[in-house]
Amino acid sequence: MDDAPVSEKHARILLKYKPVCICNAIKHPRVAEAIARGARSVEDVARETGCTSGSCHGERCVPVILEMLDGKR
Ligand code: FES
Repeated sequence: MDDAPVSEKHARILLKYKPVCICNAIKHPRVAEAIARGARSVEDVARETGCTSGSCHGERCVPVILEMLDGKR
């Protein structure tokens, strides 16, 4: 059983559904997994996940990816 406080559980659940690349419907866990597997740049994440290839060409998702690479998200 998960003994984490309720607020931590809610935060984890929200992250599961948090969009990173809105154009391609790519959510936080997929990008986090790419980073955990060794992606170290936006290009690495893009190659692994498909982020940045949507209609905005990364305008919306690149800042989020950069924050995730910096460990801020
Ligand atoms: S949000 Fe990622 S390409 Fe548009």
